Amino acid sequence: MCDIATLENRRQELQNLLDAEKTQEERNASGQFHTPISLARDILVHAGKLLPSRSAIRFLDPGFGTGTFFSALLHTPAKNHVSTATGYEIDPHYGIPAKKLWADTVLDLRLTDFTEEEFPSYDADKYNLIICNPPYVRHHHISNVDKVRLQQLALQASDIAMSGLSGLYCYFLALSHSWMQKNGVAGWLIPSEFMDVNYGRPIKEYLLGKVTLLQIHRFDPNDVQFDDALVSSAIVWLRNAHPPKDHRVKFTFGGSIDHPNYEKDIPVPVLTKESKWTRFPLLQERREASNSKVSDFFRVKRGIATGDNSFFVLPLDEIRARKLPISQFVPILPSPRYVEETEIEADDDGNPLIERRLFVLDCKLPFETVKRHYPELWNYLQEGVHKGVPERYICRHRKPWYSQEHRPSSLFYCTYIGRSDRNGKKPFRFILNHSRAIVANSYLILYPRADFEKTLLVDPEMARSVVKALNDITTQAMLDEGRVYGGGLHKLEPNELGNIDAMPLVKAVGNEQRANRHVQLSLFDDAKL
Ligand SMILES: C[S@@+](CC[C@H](N)C(=O)[O-])C[C@H]1O[C@@H](n2cnc3c(N)ncnc32)[C@H](O)[C@@H]1O
Repeated sequence: MCDIATLENRRQELQNLLDAEKTQEERNASGQFHTPISLARDILVHAGKLLPSRSAIRFLDPGFGTGTFFSALLHTPAKNHVSTATGYEIDPHYGIPAKKLWADTVLDLRLTDFTEEEFPSYDADKYNLIICNPPYVRHHHISNVDKVRLQQLALQASDIAMSGLSGLYCYFLALSHSWMQKNGVAGWLIPSEFMDVNYGRPIKEYLLGKVTLLQIHRFDPNDVQFDDALVSSAIVWLRNAHPPKDHRVKFTFGGSIDHPNYEKDIPVPVLTKESKWTRFPLLQERREASNSKVSDFFRVKRGIATGDNSFFVLPLDEIRARKLPISQFVPILPSPRYVEETEIEADDDGNPLIERRLFVLDCKLPFETVKRHYPELWNYLQEGVHKGVPERYICRHRKPWYSQEHRPSSLFYCTYIGRSDRNGKKPFRFILNHSRAIVANSYLILYPRADFEKTLLVDPEMARSVVKALNDITTQAMLDEGRVYGGGLHKLEPNELGNIDAMPLVKAVGNEQRANRHVQLSLFDDAKL
């Protein structure tokens, strides 16, 4: 037998050749998207960690293709323990050349429809390692006769009452249950769509109740290492054993299976209640399913109170004219009435690209240091002293009196005082800020909570949808939480903004996440169902 490196090279050549002989449409209709070898190897390395070391491996891939996973298995140390390896491939276009390629190995490749095969009766004849990237064939392409047959088989095999909207990959997962040895392990590379849509519910019940769901890893859509076809996929790891008491499922995102960028262990009861599993690991578990508040997404703070805006806030021209050190100032947005934009762009220094360019003095240096290094600033502070600025209440409680409280800039600001006019103009407005400008107390600052911030980091486009959704929050919902003043003037405190129902926001975040999961074979047509 050739060494595995040579076989893998030949397999890749074969894969390219065979793929090229088919049209994209043909491959779409049969769900023929091969797994990149790097990913297949990650998967088999991880699988090796889940099986008892040195145990005899009985390997099954029910949608074999040219054998990416089998090749990856032979690349791991576990290759020495492979006692049986079985593959199923329905398409002779891939099956016949693959059979030839692996002829000198332990592999038994059967060129037939896996779903029509009789599963082994005895545990010893079943498999302890099932790894599969099953065909992503949409339910539209499954005939009604086949659907009924597959639904009956799924029910017998795994007690899953499959919806008629399920794609072929769901049936592969369900049927394979009867091919698994007790305590055997399976890794399924499948569309993550099942985690959120209605037809995925019976599969999730199976994963939580009948087997032990170990881990679900999702790829970061911004990660360019995979084809479009794979970025919306998840790898689902399970063991054929009842879940232990107090079991938690590991949800991972981005990076690789063993070195994810994010991870969180979610208790089974939380997953039982949650209909959208893709919120993990990036978002917190929901407090109340349909009653999310703005404070679930943000910490809300008031902007800074300088104590004397006329002294501390200066236009850029004046700073330059007085030769004051710009390093001791931070940009600050002007009063909301001067900010028309909903989105504020920044220049290369992070300063806001708006008409009124203001800066606020925020100097932490001791008086003597200012005197030595920045005589012009020291002179300016002297002017403040003569005007009595340090004696003002807020300034008296700061050290030094010419520094500001710590309120870093944020992507999201809210103007919170306004008059609702007869035309329904809103008394509140949300702004998306890309600059490092901070804000004064005529604004509220929305700091994304840690988990939500991570979501925004991996998906910068989401920030726009978030601001739009915030602006879509009905005026009434906001007024309900705020206080009505004479003449229709409304004011909103940070905790009141936090308490506002965030349904538009919940929808926007959900939609955005769905949009980012790239459509594989337009499977997402069904996501709305
Ligand atoms: C998504 S591809 C994965 C191929 C390979 N395992 C990989 O990961 O690169 C799924 C494979 O399953 C095959 N397939 C589709 N329906 C099948 C069936 N009913 N029984 C067996 N194989 C099937 C397809 O022809 C295709 O080669």
